[in-house]
Amino acid sequence: MTHNEQIAALRKDYRHSELLESAVDADPIMLFHKWFKQAIESEITEPNAMCLSTIADGKPESRIVLLKGIEHHGFVFYTNYNSHKGQQIEQNANVHLNFAWLELERQIRIKGIAHKISEAESDLYFASRPFESRVGAIVSAQSETVESRKALEDSMSEALTKYEGTNPPRPEHWGGYVVIPEAIEFWQGRTGRLHDRLLYTKEAQAWKLDRLCP
Ligand SMILES: Cc1cc2nc3c(=O)[nH]c(=O)nc-3n(C[C@H](O)[C@H](O)[C@H](O)COP(=O)(O)O)c2cc1C
Repeated sequence: MTHNEQIAALRKDYRHSELLESAVDADPIMLFHKWFKQAIESEITEPNAMCLSTIADGKPESRIVLLKGIEHHGFVFYTNYNSHKGQQIEQNANVHLNFAWLELERQIRIKGIAHKISEAESDLYFASRPFESRVGAIVSAQSETVESRKALEDSMSEALTKYEGTNPPRPEHWGGYVVIPEAIEFWQGRTGRLHDRLLYTKEAQAWKLDRLCP
């Protein structure tokens, strides 16, 4: 079998669960909480890892970030505001989040608008991070080129010495975003590729629920 034949032959029938209108909440955030709890209970690796897509001059870019809370009816993550994603959100706040919980044969897709959270909230979360992570955030000009691994390690050890025994302050360019959802799709794999897809769309203050063909 060639490598391409091996890839083409990868095939799994999904039989884990089902997603029916009769069993879901009117509010997708409630359903998200339920699914997230199940993801934690299933002990899958980093269930809070989500793919974040942004737009750079009309072209999409994706990367993984970690969900750190569900607040203000939205999904919170932290990053460097000067990073590529930060600059892209500055230009166009429309983003997309994607959770792939393959062990549960589930996917959640979230279309939304990213907003910076308050400085006080970012301060609070920054202060909760381990010392090394806080110093790392100070040292790393995320997304910029760096001369070498050694240059990075040298500035880290310099900063570790500088801040030893202190509370490193949150850099202004580091903080959180909350993605306020406009649409959330829950996908549950089913047998014979007849998967369940339930799409919630925000309409005025209520959520409209539709089933999509798989
Ligand atoms: C499992 C995992 C978790 C990550 N979590 C974060 C995160 O919470 N925040 C962050 O800025 N980058 C995180 N990253 C790194 C990003 O994927 C990305 O490399 C970085 O943010 C730079 O992206 P940008 O240059 O597009 O801005 C994570 C990567 C992985 C693989």
